[in-house]
Amino acid sequence: MKIAVIGGTGLIGSQVVKILNLDGHEALPHAPSTGLDLFSGRGLAEALDGADVVVNLTNSPTFDDAAPAFFQTTMDNLLAAADAAHVGHAVILSIVGADQVPGLVYYRAKVLQEDILKAGPVPYSIVRATQFFEFIDAVLSWSADESTVRLPATLVQPMAAADVARAVADVSAGPPLRGTRNVAGPEVFPLDELGKVTLATHGDRRTVITDNNAGMFAAAPRDALIAKNGAVIAETTYLEWLARQPAG
Ligand SMILES: NC(=O)c1ccc[n+]([C@@H]2O[C@H](COP(=O)([O-])OP(=O)(O)OC[C@H]3O[C@@H](n4cnc5c(N)ncnc54)[C@H](OP(=O)(O)O)[C@@H]3O)[C@@H](O)[C@H]2O)c1
Repeated sequence: MKIAVIGGTGLIGSQVVKILNLDGHEALPHAPSTGLDLFSGRGLAEALDGADVVVNLTNSPTFDDAAPAFFQTTMDNLLAAADAAHVGHAVILSIVGADQVPGLVYYRAKVLQEDILKAGPVPYSIVRATQFFEFIDAVLSWSADESTVRLPATLVQPMAAADVARAVADVSAGPPLRGTRNVAGPEVFPLDELGKVTLATHGDRRTVITDNNAGMFAAAPRDALIAKNGAVIAETTYLEWLARQPAG
């Protein structure tokens, strides 16, 4: 199949392109650097010409109040162009539990992205993944200073980006789900505990302080981000993944 991967140069997109091509499909990455801007629509019609499937793995430049407008405009552009090009399947990547965290504008924006896709003219699939292992260092940095990292005890069930990419590639190569597939990591951690494991592995001597008002995930009810029954559970554990990361 010919598969257009928009955001195909990003963390997940680049791996999805690789997997699909290894599986025998013709997957092409698209992004501003290849001449496609999903926000303005530049290059979109050309990218979707002859495509069987479009996978949207873009991300908004910021997680703030600009995020809803980014996902609204990019999805409107995507669906109009996919419909005009008779693309038979549109896939997006969203977040497990996004609808249960209305206090976070970025999560509201992801729910908006899902709702636009569901209401649109193109047969669709939504993959919802939990937080990526690759994202954990950034989460820690948001509420850290020189000696402490403040984190809430919110439960998380993170997973490796490689496992997310595999799940997105599998769904993209299959028939439209007209629904959602949830994928999650094999273990549940309170975020403060995950912070301690991460700092210890990095040899970072800062102290984790449990603070249920600290950082972005303080807005999430304690178990909102955990996969519910029916989710696909990925194999890679956090410790296995950490052990594979280059030192420093
Ligand atoms: N972080 C998490 O834990 C998590 C969990 C579940 C779901 N997700 C979702 O996963 C998706 C992918 O995340 P990611 O970490 O792979 O993102 P990423 O690494 O930031 O990659 C984003 C991709 O989108 C491209 N892009 C940005 N603006 C664009 C535009 N206007 N037009 C076309 N392409 C554009 C980027 O191109 P450049 O490289 O040129 O900038 C890049 O290829 C996001 O939608 C996110 O909501 C994330």
